Amino acid sequence: MKNKVATIIEDLRSVQKPRRFQHILNVSDAAKQLAKKYGADEESAYLAGLLHDLAKPYDAATMLKKAEAYQLTIDPIYRSDPQLLHGLVGARVAQEQYGIEDRDILNAIAYHTTGRAGMSRLEKIVYLADYIEVSRDFPGVDALRKAAFKDLDAAVLLAFEQTIIFLIDRHKMIHTNTIIARNDLIQKRKNRKENNQQKDNYEYQ
Ligand SMILES: [Fe+2]
Ligand SMILES: [Fe+2]
Repeated sequence: MKNKVATIIEDLRSVQKPRRFQHILNVSDAAKQLAKKYGADEESAYLAGLLHDLAKPYDAATMLKKAEAYQLTIDPIYRSDPQLLHGLVGARVAQEQYGIEDRDILNAIAYHTTGRAGMSRLEKIVYLADYIEVSRDFPGVDALRKAAFKDLDAAVLLAFEQTIIFLIDRHKMIHTNTIIARNDLIQKRKNRKENNQQKDNYEYQ
């Protein structure tokens, strides 16, 4: 595992632009910290962080060609903004190039761009790590960093909402996965709250 990680880091150093290389290392560190906080596998989080932007350097034409070669479903939103495919394509590249077979790691790479319904703990961690890594600087990032280490679901929800607002402000398309992921989190949080309230009621009876 250690050898594999060292090889991946050296590959990334030579393939990725210096700024993105630093971003990738920062995401891996943030993912590891979040994994520690929320009891997820720290090695998996670190590895998913390293691999999350593997397909980011591809231009639009290459991205579409790769996505077609991997027989991914290319919906009209992906077609209009092929960069959105870099998670899904990157997961396939990670599998092919580094023999990654852990489904959870592959899904964390695949869905770090849009999110999706029913995200695992690791998927949420990588999604959030990408958002809050130390070099990120945008209005609201500090609040998001604080939230990330307080309540994972609340922070992911906040990140979805900031993304959606950002896209609306720029008149850009919002991938349906992000909308569905947000709805899913809201529903689950609501269910949890109701369950807790029910438990409280039983205790008073
Ligand atoms: Fe990315
Ligand atoms: Fe990233």
